[in-house]
Amino acid sequence: MSEFPEGFLWGGATAANQLEGGYQEGGRGLSIADRLPGGKDRFKIVSQPDFDWTIDTDKYTYPNHEGIDFYHHYKEDIALFAEMGFKCYRFSIAWSRIFPNGDETQPNEAGLKFYDDVIDECLANNIEPVITISHYELPLNLAKRYGGWKNRYLIEFYETFARTILTRYASKVKYWMTFNEINSAVHFPVMGQGLVLSTGANDKKNVFQAWHNQFVASAKAVKIAHELRDDIQVGCMILYATSYAYDSNPVNQLANLQHNQDFNFFCADVQVRGAYPTYTKRLLAEYNLTFDDLETTDGDLALLQQYPVDYIGFSYYMSSAVETTGSVTDTVAGNLMGGVKNPFLKASDWGWQIDPTGLRIALNELHDRYQKPLFVVENGLGAIDKPDKNFYVEDDYRIDYLKQHIEAMAGAIDDGVDLMGYTPWGCIDLVSASTGEMSKRYGFIYVDLDDQGHGTLARYPKKSFYWYQDVIKHNGLTKK
Ligand code: BG6
Repeated sequence: MSEFPEGFLWGGATAANQLEGGYQEGGRGLSIADRLPGGKDRFKIVSQPDFDWTIDTDKYTYPNHEGIDFYHHYKEDIALFAEMGFKCYRFSIAWSRIFPNGDETQPNEAGLKFYDDVIDECLANNIEPVITISHYELPLNLAKRYGGWKNRYLIEFYETFARTILTRYASKVKYWMTFNEINSAVHFPVMGQGLVLSTGANDKKNVFQAWHNQFVASAKAVKIAHELRDDIQVGCMILYATSYAYDSNPVNQLANLQHNQDFNFFCADVQVRGAYPTYTKRLLAEYNLTFDDLETTDGDLALLQQYPVDYIGFSYYMSSAVETTGSVTDTVAGNLMGGVKNPFLKASDWGWQIDPTGLRIALNELHDRYQKPLFVVENGLGAIDKPDKNFYVEDDYRIDYLKQHIEAMAGAIDDGVDLMGYTPWGCIDLVSASTGEMSKRYGFIYVDLDDQGHGTLARYPKKSFYWYQDVIKHNGLTKK
């Protein structure tokens, strides 16, 4: 017997800026992701004090411009997803395809038509679309002219964008998410909030103000969606990295509790429970701020309370450990944040600590705290694949990673957790968000494209493709 409920949403996830390409086609405007250079120093380069979103093509490549050219290959790609048996496909809508500068009042029809076609192609293949409204791809103009999400005007622009796409697609699309990994901004506000050092990213007041504006924008999207369709499901989306106190030292236990509140729960607490949590006071005080330093209105707070999200979408790749006494000096990298090394875990080639049990813990913690359905909308192993001469990849390491995480989900379901679905990240190879590399691959489908942009763009199923096909067919792992 399978542990997974009937109708479980097995699928895969991507984001427009990392796979579509066609960055100047169909009237699309520029987005902040078009300004991120390829290579391991991507974050370092855009974190320079003088970075002002200018590109330097003499020095750098910009892999997001071409992505994997899903813009022209979407039919072929969705057919491959269907061959794997996907029940759903999570993707994002590039805001700048619909509103090229973000602040127009009329949408770009060619952009809307592109997503009509993508959605119809999914539905024709019995794949339920799951849409992220905003995934690290703010229109560039909103970052340059308005200073990103710290500016309250962005609530209005997002509302227009959300209303436009919800009105157009709600009859065909039931599952939505408002902001990808909204909490990630505390470590890196560039992608999620469009803030760089030259526009005040180092001042936490801006980060909290940007979050507040996003919370209000998110509540407005929930309101619009529910007015359009009774059974629509709008989720938040957080980056969740299960966090452990390094040891039983009470000081580390307290630090871990606070880390969980500040990083894993803060945004979701507001979006799911509809109010700022009590520890907001302590959290703001750590940056010498009070709630009165933020621009909020009674109307905002009422909206948050009236329109919480329907489910919790989250990404899970790794866990972290908290040690505050300085006695552990061995550190590791991670998904936008590193930390001390956990001696019980191995790490990926990029230093992300692999921890399937941490996913079972995450599912239990989130379920206990919120009592709302959960959706694992990202998970996976970024690895270097070595295709043979026929471009076939034997990615047993990826199968192993995914298998262990599926077992953890099955365990959590046995624990009583209400889990809606699972969409592993980068179901087809795409451009990495943190490094802009193609060589950091997550997919079930290999794409012939390298870090320099060379390759035929041809698609080839990997070994994991057939393995995942079998998982979906049996609604879970078979007991082989
Ligand atoms: C998540 C993002 O943080 O992790 C994705 O939502 C991203 O956009 C994914 O691609 C994996 O991270 P990376 O840096 O390996 O691409």
